[in-house]
Amino acid sequence: MKSGMKSVVKTVLIVGLGLIGGSFAAALKAAGACKTVIGFDLCEKSLDEALELGIIDRSCASLAEGVEQAELIMLSVPMLGMESVLTELAKHDLRQKIMTDVGSCKGLLIRAARNVFGKVPVNLIPGHPIAGSEKSGVAAARANLFVAHNVILTPLSDSDPDCIQTVKTLWQACGAHISIMDVRHHDEVLAKTSHLPHFLAFSLVDTLAGNPDNQDVFRYAAGGFRDFTRIAGSDPTMWHDIALGNREAVLESLDCFSEGLAQLRTAVVNQDSETLLGIFDRARVARQHFAAMLARRTYMATMMKDNQDHTKTLIVRSGGCLSGELRVSGDKSISHRSVMLGALAEGVTEITGFLEGEDSLATVQAFRDMGVVIEGPNEGRVTIHGVGMHGLKPPPGSLYLGNAGTAMRLMAGLMSAQSFDVTLTGDASLSGRPMSRVVDPLTEMGARITTEEGGRPPLVIKGGSKLSGIDYQLPMASAQVQSCLLLAGLYAEGETTARAPGVVRDHTNRMLSGFGYPVKTDGNQVSIEGGGKLTATSIEVPADISSAAFFMVAASIARGSEITLTHVGVNPTRSGVIDILRLMGADIRLVNERLVGGEPVADIIVHSAPLKGIVIPRELVPVAIDEFPVLFVAAACAEGETRLTGAKELRVKESDRIQAMADGLKILGIDAEALPDGMVIRGGQPIEGGTIDSHGDHRIAMAFAVAALRAQGEIRILDCANVSTSFPSFVLLANHAGLRISETVSKVASY
Ligand code: S3P
Repeated sequence: MKSGMKSVVKTVLIVGLGLIGGSFAAALKAAGACKTVIGFDLCEKSLDEALELGIIDRSCASLAEGVEQAELIMLSVPMLGMESVLTELAKHDLRQKIMTDVGSCKGLLIRAARNVFGKVPVNLIPGHPIAGSEKSGVAAARANLFVAHNVILTPLSDSDPDCIQTVKTLWQACGAHISIMDVRHHDEVLAKTSHLPHFLAFSLVDTLAGNPDNQDVFRYAAGGFRDFTRIAGSDPTMWHDIALGNREAVLESLDCFSEGLAQLRTAVVNQDSETLLGIFDRARVARQHFAAMLARRTYMATMMKDNQDHTKTLIVRSGGCLSGELRVSGDKSISHRSVMLGALAEGVTEITGFLEGEDSLATVQAFRDMGVVIEGPNEGRVTIHGVGMHGLKPPPGSLYLGNAGTAMRLMAGLMSAQSFDVTLTGDASLSGRPMSRVVDPLTEMGARITTEEGGRPPLVIKGGSKLSGIDYQLPMASAQVQSCLLLAGLYAEGETTARAPGVVRDHTNRMLSGFGYPVKTDGNQVSIEGGGKLTATSIEVPADISSAAFFMVAASIARGSEITLTHVGVNPTRSGVIDILRLMGADIRLVNERLVGGEPVADIIVHSAPLKGIVIPRELVPVAIDEFPVLFVAAACAEGETRLTGAKELRVKESDRIQAMADGLKILGIDAEALPDGMVIRGGQPIEGGTIDSHGDHRIAMAFAVAALRAQGEIRILDCANVSTSFPSFVLLANHAGLRISETVSKVASY
């Protein structure tokens, strides 16, 4: 027995030594979770093999002998054999024993138990490990088969809690995650996720094998055929039993699939490209999307290699200087808006330069979930088949927006005006961010939204509300709030006016005009009249100034640097970072200034220059709000004191950016003092190396990578997977320009 683990039960009897029973035995023994594993199987060969492989400690000649000695009995026989095994068991005194099973159809086991015992014994705890392989038999058994796999237990309301706990503990010892479900739900879910795909694989192979061309079909079978049909090698008896044992749910899932297939067929018959692209595109991203949603993480954090949670660390060598010409990723704010307006427009909107980052992809997925056909993104190209102002369809479940605050706040406005109910959810960071700033004014307009305590997500939005225009004074300079109200205002009766207390980014107003929707702007106040329509257009998304900012600071602080950042959006409501860096003494020149699709764009040339500390002018705060993490790094490299106030919004971004930056800067030996609404940094001192926690905030991670250019030692930055929310190619471009960043990915221990 493995030392260190106290055995959970003394003796376990495994009835049926196939792949699953054998693997359970092997896993229990490997974990030292029981003293003795006894095996029973009608097939003597399997018993001998199990003994030979050391999977069981001993075999028993009859079921009666095993039952006598066992404290826990695990049934791993084919589903239709369960009833006869239970009938045998019923001949013994089972009161002090625990019974459990591994069968795929829980309803069938419950029916069998009722037939045999009259009622389901309280010490029978049905279970089902979601693990397996197309291989069968005890020879294929593996002690690690259940590691990080789900095991679903389906106890009844009167099942004995101690028995449930023991079964749970044994599975946990095998490395499995446990979930509890009711029997019916289990059978319905499994019919769709496991039984249906197996039947499709069996049926496809069988159908093609019966084809006169079968030789050629199999000879030239490509990877797709092999991947799809791997599970057709599974045990026929087992699947026969499942088909009949879970008959009702299986029929329902076969019918549902047949409908989908018929729809695909009709689209092919009618040469209906839009429907075909819709099906293929939705399916392509759905797996990734659901995995991220279930883990409440972003795609990168969830799906790096093998569907396990991962954490990414950036390791940045000290020193270096920057050179060359770079085009950073597309603007995040504009990318979000282009999908939203494109989806609601009449006609097809073509987008280029789209940010293929996780935040904007979350918006794409949300609109796909509401029935909009979206092609791409493919190298920044996205094609949106607009459905018109009233063409969105109810999504099949909640809309998962990952890390994207902009998506949630802007969509809250749009969703409030739809005819159907919607729930907006996000990852752990977004779930902690304040939403009352949009919920309050939307409620004033007539929306019906409920939130978690403190106005946090999820947002549960009732459909069918009639919205009326309001004249609203925003309490904070927030483009997200202003844009949210404008989007709700598209549907409201009368005029909606949103007045911001300072300059905020104006991409929504500009883009609405681009889609032919009239908007009135007067300083920081914007008004819109409801009831109009949007006409599809083409949009060229400029490079994101918020991403370019990392390179502006990097080139400024790394001596001897000279870089050109091309095609950067320099909308005056976003370009505060340039003004602030210039006030600090940076050498930044804009050339080739032009207007692209209504947005000002330029190439930006940056030479390194000595920086000095400044008091950051209040009016520049909202127009540089996302750039402060990296501006703090500039301040750390500047001679003298830099003081920022009036920026308490930084406390409620993807992380508390004031605290996260102050903590990190201090670790690097920098004199940084967090203020409630800003920071004081006394710069110009040597910067040390060290390990920084980015708190999963993309901009904190990238800011500290830039700091390494002037550090005396390596900087390690933890929890960096979310860099992909706004700037997936950051490491690649940064290394190309002269930084020296490597990445490591490790699994998050989750049990
Ligand atoms: C954004 C507005 C800003 C900004 C965010 C994107 C937008 O937030 O910080 O990254 O696209 O409208 P606030 O409007 O809340 O300041």
